[in-house]
Amino acid sequence: IRELAQELTAALHQYPNFPTEGILFEDFLPIFRNPDLFTKLIKAFKLHLDQTFPDQKIDYIVGLESRGFLFGPTLALSLDAGFVPIRKEGKLPGKLVSASYTKEYGTGTFEMQVESIPEGSNVVIVDDILATGGSAGAAADCLLKCKANILEFDFVMELDFLKGREKLPGPTFTLLSGQTEGLAGKN
Ligand code: PRP
Ligand code: MG
Repeated sequence: IRELAQELTAALHQYPNFPTEGILFEDFLPIFRNPDLFTKLIKAFKLHLDQTFPDQKIDYIVGLESRGFLFGPTLALSLDAGFVPIRKEGKLPGKLVSASYTKEYGTGTFEMQVESIPEGSNVVIVDDILATGGSAGAAADCLLKCKANILEFDFVMELDFLKGREKLPGPTFTLLSGQTEGLAGKN
């Protein structure tokens, strides 16, 4: 996994002063432009999950809109698990659970279809980056309302200094470590 992570880290592209002055934006989109790197991203997460949960069936990978949608379904398929999206307010039909969050730059509400997660399902929540933990925390609230069993929160990157993982009700894994103060991949 460490080798895969090194190669993936090298593919990240940094944009200083985006989206606002003083923020260094970590762009992980170059990974998806290259099928070899995309394969390695999925492989690294799959390896980690197979090692961490050898005796548990992961029923659903739950991806957070928008960037969690970029690799969540592919990872789910590789694990023979289902994929369930958590979307920003107003996009999903049917009976919903919802939870609001506060992030560094504002607030939002996440929604999930109740029927998508049967009670007691083993789920892993995935997203590109853990910053304040507001988004992933709200996603967890939605899942707990449906009585899901959250096995883990998995991110590609983490802004350690924001201590987002302290807010999350479950173990947290970040594939690419070593993010330093001042980096941000969010807007
Ligand atoms: C970014 C990022 C994470 C979240 C992390 O998403 O993709 O989902 O912020 O921040 P937090 O830990 O402080 O909640 P954003 O809402 O900017 O939108 P996007 O994924 O739709 O681009
Ligand atoms: Mg996001």
